[in-house]
Order: sequence, then C-alpha cells, then structure tokens
Amino acid sequence: MKRVDDFRLRLGKHELVPIMIGGMGVDISTADLALEAARLGGVGHISDAMINTVSDRRYATKHVKEKLALYKSNVLNEDKSPVKFDLGRLVEATRLHVEATMARKQGDGLVFINCMEKLTMNAPRETLKVRMSAALDAGIDGITLAAGLHLGSFGLIEDHPRFRDAKLGIIVSSVRALQLFLKKSARTGRLPDYVVVEGPLAGGHLGFGMDWAEYDLATIVAEVLHYLKTEQLDIPVIPAGGIFTGSDATGFLENGAAAVQVATRFTVAAECGLPDKVKQEYFKASEEDIEVNQISPTGYPMRMIKGSPGIGDGIRPNCEAYGYLLDANGKCAYISSYNREVAAHPHARKVSVMDKTCLCTHMRNFDIWTCGQLTWRLKDTTHRLADGSYQVPSAEHIFKDYQFSTEQRVALPEPAGA
Ligand SMILES: Cc1cc2nc3c(=O)[nH]c(=O)nc-3n(C[C@H](O)[C@H](O)[C@H](O)COP(=O)(O)O)c2cc1C
Repeated sequence: MKRVDDFRLRLGKHELVPIMIGGMGVDISTADLALEAARLGGVGHISDAMINTVSDRRYATKHVKEKLALYKSNVLNEDKSPVKFDLGRLVEATRLHVEATMARKQGDGLVFINCMEKLTMNAPRETLKVRMSAALDAGIDGITLAAGLHLGSFGLIEDHPRFRDAKLGIIVSSVRALQLFLKKSARTGRLPDYVVVEGPLAGGHLGFGMDWAEYDLATIVAEVLHYLKTEQLDIPVIPAGGIFTGSDATGFLENGAAAVQVATRFTVAAECGLPDKVKQEYFKASEEDIEVNQISPTGYPMRMIKGSPGIGDGIRPNCEAYGYLLDANGKCAYISSYNREVAAHPHARKVSVMDKTCLCTHMRNFDIWTCGQLTWRLKDTTHRLADGSYQVPSAEHIFKDYQFSTEQRVALPEPAGA
C-alpha cells in the first residue's frame, strides 16, 4: 500500500517530500511553521498579508503607528483615497520578514511566500510589484500568487534578476482560471513552476461563489491535469482543500498530482501563529459551527467559525493604520457598510455591521477565525486533557502523519507529559 513518502515533488533541481503547508495570513503560517516544513524536506509558506503589522510585531518596527500618525487627520473622513502605503516601508517590512526567516532555514525543503493579490493597498500594481521584488531580493525560495490572481503579475517582476530562478506558482480553482493566466503571462516566456488547485473545502477565501458545495476538488484536478496533458505542458499540479489524512493525499498523488497543499491540520500546531485560546476554538468546533459567508470586503466568500468575535462587530474602519483592502480608488466595502449603519443609528455609541467585516483589524487581532471545512475533525487528531482542553501537537508530528500514515489513519501525538 502506497503512502505519501513513496512520492517526491520535483521542482527544478529540488526533490521534495510532496507536502506543502499553505500560506495563512496574517502570520498564522509563521516562519516557525514554514521552517519546520522545510526542515522536514517539504515546502512551507510564510505570508506577506499585512506585512507591516507582522514586521512591527516580530521585528519591533513601528510602521503601523507611524502610518496612523501620518494620516490621523483623515480618520473621520469617509474618503480614504489619500491613505497611501509608503513603498519603502513595504520593502523594509518584507525584507525583514523574509531575511529573518531564510537565515534560519535548515534541511532540504523550501520556504515560499504567499502573496494575496486582493491586498490591493490603494495602489494594486505598485504595491504588488514591490512586495514580490522585495521578497525575491531578500532570498525567498519562491512566491505563490493567491486570492485575486492578477493576470499580469509575472510581468511586474519580469525584469527582476531572480525572475527565472525563483519558483513562481499560482493558485487557481478552475481550469478556466489557469487557461486565462497562462494566456496572459505567455508574453513573459515563463510558465508557473507549479499550480495549486484549490477546491471548495479550503480555508480562507474561496475561488468559488456561494454555490461552492456543488464543486469537487478531485474533478477540478482531473480537468486541470487533462488540460495540461493536452497542451503538453509539464507543470506540477498541487491539489488543496480538505486533504485531511495521508491517505487522502496519497489518493491525489496516485492520480497524477505532484504534491498536496494542506493547512487546516496545521492551524492547531504549536508553531502556528493563532493564539492558544483560538486553537482551542478550532478543536472545539463542530460541523455546524463552520460557515461560508460573504462578509469579507474582498467580495470572495470566506469560510470561518460562526462564533468569530469579528462577525457583526461595527468597529470604525481602521484604514489609516492598515488599509490593505483599499482598492485602486481608496474604497473598501466595509467602509460603505459601516457608514450606512452609522447613518441609520445616529445616536448609537456603537453600531453592528452584519454584511461586511473590517477584515484588516479583525485578522490582525485573530478575531475572524477562518478555517477549512474539515476543522471539525481536528478534535480527533489529538488527546483531550484532564481540564477539557486539547493537546496541541507539533508541526513535525502532523507533517510526519501526512507523510507516513495509511488506511485513513491519523496518528495521535505522544500524550503530553509522557
Ligand atoms: C486559517 C487559514 C488561513 C488561510 N489563509 C490563506 C491566505 O492568507 N492565503 C491563501 O492563499 N490561502 C489561505 N488559506 C488556504 C490554505 O493556504 C490552503 O490552500 C487550504 O486551506 C488547504 O485546505 P485545508 O485547509 O483543508 O488543508 C488559509 C487557510 C486557513 C485554514
């Protein structure tokens, strides 16, 4: 009987354990988590979501405070178009995070950075170009372009000296999205080094509408493999979303996938950036506690635990400090929803906003608990402790469980204190 370890992912000269831990912003997929994947011979991701905030938290910079100070006079203004990101600071924050991560890398694996293109930052092209270039300058092994795939993104870095040597991958949820991307980037003479095919059970934002339940990862992966074969394109395909056991992963590898991308199992790892209390919420969640809703201002459906404190919260938009979702015209859907509620309740001290959320503030504070559909199964992957809480496993334990397990089994960690 085959297991994941019987397969290898080939990316250029690298031969890797075919397990990729997906990017999870904001600093949920920490450097520590990504580095464990690399040490064990696979691929880990850090994320550049809200990189200035991550830099402040991890490397004692003051980007957020200083940005807020600069734009303080705009806080009560409904028009956020004057709020811009300083590209130099963006470079510095990215450089700090990537350099500090890569300096600690051990083992034969790789560390990539997840770049969500929906973080349009009131200047989509300029900021994306700077984010990608700075990560390449700082020595990242590769970039995975996600959420909102900007079809011209390869073109933004085609003059970079590392454009051909760094690994560049994309995340798509349909063969059509892949076709469009390949068509648009053909001009650069460079194919993606890998394609992550993300199905409807993934965490974070979904590349599907609210009819997500009608789609199936295995079917989409088969379509993508068929298309690439027909076009004689040799690009590794990496399925993601709902791959919960080593056997699930092996099934995809046997059917032509080059690796799998997984995330949910690692949200409760010791090295994951979620606070311990939130990890316990993930363990406790039942299937009914998980929903896909439309409160993300990005316009993409997003999966989360219904009890997330950020749902319905009516905080004043915090774009002067953050502003990562401001579109090219300085607009964010949360601002409109917030202003509508304030106008409807002029005397309320605090309003509730149900249809959208201030995603920047709440992701920063770990108050939107985005998760994969199979989060409810996490409780079966560890021990319940005497106080009713769940034992947090190490990333190494989870990684090796994927790598070596068979017959749909999930190995439990060594009991704490054993
Ligand atoms: C907590 C959480 C946060 C995520 N954040 C991101 C993100 O910032 N960018 C992204 O491209 N994908 C994100 N994802 C998707 C994962 O990278 C991954 O592709 C997917 O969740 C894999 O499915 P699984 O969680 O069922 O294993 C996130 C997933 C989770 C669970």
